[in-house]
Amino acid sequence: MPDVRLVNVTKKFGNVVAVDNISLHIRDREYFSLLGPSGCGKTTLLRLIAGLIKPDSGEIYIGDKLVNDAPPEDRDIGFVFQTFALFPHMNVWENVIYGPRIKGYDMTRANRIGHEVLEMVRLHERLDAYPNELSGGMMQRLAVARALAAGAKILLLDEPLGQLDAKVRNELRYEIRRMAKDLELTAIHVTHDQAEAMAMSDRIAVMRKGKILQVGTPQELYTNPKNLFVANFIGGSNFLEGYIIEAKGEAAVIELRGGLRFKAINRGMNVGDRVVLAIKPETLTMQRHGRSGEANLFNGIIKRVTFEGTTIRYEVELENQDTVLVVTPSLTCEWFTTGEKVIVSFRPENAHVFPYPEAGLRAEISVE
Ligand SMILES: Nc1ncnc2c1ncn2[C@@H]1O[C@H](COP(=O)(O)OP(=O)(O)O)[C@@H](O)[C@H]1O
Ligand SMILES: [Mg+2]
Repeated sequence: MPDVRLVNVTKKFGNVVAVDNISLHIRDREYFSLLGPSGCGKTTLLRLIAGLIKPDSGEIYIGDKLVNDAPPEDRDIGFVFQTFALFPHMNVWENVIYGPRIKGYDMTRANRIGHEVLEMVRLHERLDAYPNELSGGMMQRLAVARALAAGAKILLLDEPLGQLDAKVRNELRYEIRRMAKDLELTAIHVTHDQAEAMAMSDRIAVMRKGKILQVGTPQELYTNPKNLFVANFIGGSNFLEGYIIEAKGEAAVIELRGGLRFKAINRGMNVGDRVVLAIKPETLTMQRHGRSGEANLFNGIIKRVTFEGTTIRYEVELENQDTVLVVTPSLTCEWFTTGEKVIVSFRPENAHVFPYPEAGLRAEISVE
């Protein structure tokens, strides 16, 4: 079974560097996602792996084999696209059996494969249906079945759930992952939806402007972002700007706007450095009473409350006029209302300290 390795792969279209010197190792049987905003090069990377386009430079390996010059049909891959790329004039059975027949399998073997994969995607009772008679979810299950029937060992999925409504999308997340796992496939899944990537993947590569910014498990990206873009793109963050005014070992004090003092865990910053703190909204807590003025306890006023069902989002203006978002579980936390005075508390271990970016904070986290 194959792993996929890219070494210094670059692909340009005119002046646009769609894939910029990317090196990446996707392990055998891994469910791996390429995640990033629109235009960051995800589809181009997938098409390079598929062999639909060739890199300008760099090497692509599938298993031990250098495949730069191998055509798509020699790469053991199956492709599932966002739009339902099925044969419209063929019914479910004919769509699935097409691959095995092209491969020259005898009738018995082709039929066995056809029945197996259709059972797996739960379409074995719809053999005679044409694609336009199926729901969006069924069409994507059929697209997966067709790739599997054709003998794919690597499944490439390009925004496969993008056209589906939310409920079907959530079901198919688990179903597609389960199929890939049951069949021990290597799956490479492209999406701009961080929740989808988090729910489905063993590991994720976060991409931006043709480059990979961080590779990690969903948990690693969420709890330990390596840069401001990832801190924002994966689950969102509050960003507070300041300067390091004390640094002893890992303990640092950061002065925020308005002279507020923040105790943080420091990795490699020096006194005088301009920094940004990235803090997940769900790590902040609020109380009505208590002492502010101590490190990491700040006065605030609730400016806006949004009830979201399982969670409540509060926009809170701190005493220095910085606004932070606080997200609390709605059933196990106290509720607050607009205009209320609160004390917001931050825990040092949940605040990631980054150097202030040269391009400015907004530009650094922008998804444009
Ligand atoms: N065939 C092409 N010709 C010219 N430019 C392209 C082509 N394919 C992609 N691009 C450009 O390459 C960049 C990356 O595109 P793409 O890989 O489709 O991004 P994503 O899938 O992440 O949205 C974009 O700027 C896009 O306009
Ligand atoms: Mg794309």
